[in-house]
Amino acid sequence: MGMIITIDGPAGAGKSTVARALADKLGFHYINTGDLYRFITYCAILDNLNVNSAQLMDRLSLKIVEKYIQENSDIDLLSHINSISEKLHSPEVDKKVSFVARHSSVRKNLMSLQRLLVKDGSVVMEGRDIGTIIVPYANVKFFITADEYTRIMRRYKELQEKGYQITFSEVKKEILCRDYIDSRRETAPLTQPEDAIFIDTSHQTVSEVVEEMLEIVRRLKDF
Ligand code: DC
Repeated sequence: MGMIITIDGPAGAGKSTVARALADKLGFHYINTGDLYRFITYCAILDNLNVNSAQLMDRLSLKIVEKYIQENSDIDLLSHINSISEKLHSPEVDKKVSFVARHSSVRKNLMSLQRLLVKDGSVVMEGRDIGTIIVPYANVKFFITADEYTRIMRRYKELQEKGYQITFSEVKKEILCRDYIDSRRETAPLTQPEDAIFIDTSHQTVSEVVEEMLEIVRRLKDF
């Protein structure tokens, strides 16, 4: 049985960047669960579906997630998701993903897949409900956040660098709307796990945060 590290937190906290770097340093697998929800959202957009429909999961023409779970070929799904990463991080997906992620049918489907992904080996898995619902038995849990302005600014700069024509106030609206839905939905809302280590990344560089996490992991697990 490997070591499981979870990182939860709101949009723009810096989860993906530090989770990837931490996994890299430890030689662990890195799993970004937000991309799974983004993938379902992207498929729903392609299928022209109403993201507010509770039947969304049944209506998707591509039963991709179920198919991959049955065939136990999760690695192919992840490679596919990786290959379309740019499309999954578009402002259109940003705007709709929280509406998709609040459906319990969507979460149920992805829960089995996420548990399958942590079955073997050591992983750093990031998301919103990883330490609370998906892997409550994880070895080390982090909850990372940053102040509102910092989180919005990070996302704004990221989209600008990718060439999207978007204003700061549009990004602000999108981030605050996602925060609101993600932390208030009925099923598996974003909350800090009781046993998680809290890190505020507002005034720290990526390497400072990663070093702090590494230090904690080594101390807790006698690495
Ligand atoms: O990590 P991210 O910002 O790329 O995630 C996109 C959305 O996916 C997020 O706003 C809510 C949803 N999500 C979730 O509900 N549960 C997770 N474990 C991960 C993401």
